[in-house]
Amino acid sequence: MIDVSGLSKCFGGNRVLDDVTMSVAPGEIYGIVGHSGAGKSTLLRCLNGLETYRKGSVRINGAEVRDLSPSGLIELRRTMGMIFQTFNLMSRKNVYRNVSFPLEIRKTPKAGIERRVMELLDMVGLADRRDERVRNLSGGQKQRVGIARALALRPDILLCDEATSALDPKTTGSILDLLEDINKRLNLTIVIVTHQMEVVKRLCHRMLLLDGGVAQAEGATEDLFLSLPANLRGFIDEEYTLVPGGINIRLMFPRDISRDAVVTAMARELDIDFSIVGGKLERYLDDVFGVLIINVRPEHLDMAVEYMRKKRLYWQMLDADGENVHDRDASADRILNRTRR
Ligand SMILES: Nc1ncnc2c1ncn2[C@@H]1O[C@H](COP(=O)(O)OP(=O)(O)OP(=O)(O)O)[C@@H](O)[C@H]1O
Ligand SMILES: [Mg+2]
Repeated sequence: MIDVSGLSKCFGGNRVLDDVTMSVAPGEIYGIVGHSGAGKSTLLRCLNGLETYRKGSVRINGAEVRDLSPSGLIELRRTMGMIFQTFNLMSRKNVYRNVSFPLEIRKTPKAGIERRVMELLDMVGLADRRDERVRNLSGGQKQRVGIARALALRPDILLCDEATSALDPKTTGSILDLLEDINKRLNLTIVIVTHQMEVVKRLCHRMLLLDGGVAQAEGATEDLFLSLPANLRGFIDEEYTLVPGGINIRLMFPRDISRDAVVTAMARELDIDFSIVGGKLERYLDDVFGVLIINVRPEHLDMAVEYMRKKRLYWQMLDADGENVHDRDASADRILNRTRR
């Protein structure tokens, strides 16, 4: 559906995107994550032709965006709705007018407009606020209006640029729930740009990590978080005070294996001492994984590794500051053959 390949983009002498390749399948929720200035918005704007590019390729449903005629571009933008951090609504107009606006521009018959707008307001839970001026709404409600407006022309793809960055955590959660619901109900493809890793973990089937315009990691979110390539580690703050001396190991396991069970079984079966440095539960999409950091003595490492392999735990060794991964067990690349939806 979306195929970006070898995309590079400069502003003056400043290279903002460098050889970026990514693809999004129909019905997927795809996350583009990275720090401020990484090039996320620029990449998003290349998708709907708001930015030009000279090198590489951006294909939407097979068509190269750069080669589209002006009318082709207009049609492309109809198939791609967009929502923004700042909502970009007409704040003095009411909810209804904001959502009907794209339909009016398209000269939709009045009865059709009314029906469509109410359908959309129902979907985003704002039917009873139709006559309210947008400036009187909360941030979360404004973003709901933004979503309804973006969907008015029945796009195939929804582009979200930091759509929840201006919202508090609870409101963020409700907007993410709404996006997930829309994705499932309409089979809408969604591309989410965010600097919040939590958003990606919560919602995105696949993801791209951008840093300085360079793709640092791309793939299924769950795979990336399980394998945790070094590039990704720097982006997630997992702060543990690691024990000096000994070897710190980070274990991940599905929620149906409890942490205590792992720890007691390991201690019993191995008959070695190790200390627990930290642990927590992490949510990925609809799943919860346990993360446990333990510290073993060097002379016990081989035994511990053999045990973890046998149990098909997903594990990595961390260095003293917890930053770099020295090794990981490639044999456990699929944790317990879990099926992805
Ligand atoms: N129109 C422009 N002209 C010149 N430079 C630009 C333009 N737009 C973006 N840039 C530069 O390109 C780089 C990437 O910007 P971009 O907005 O894509 O980053 P971002 O990842 O979306 O950041 P943020 O998280 O802050 O929104 C930045 O260095 C920015 O200053
Ligand atoms: Mg941006």
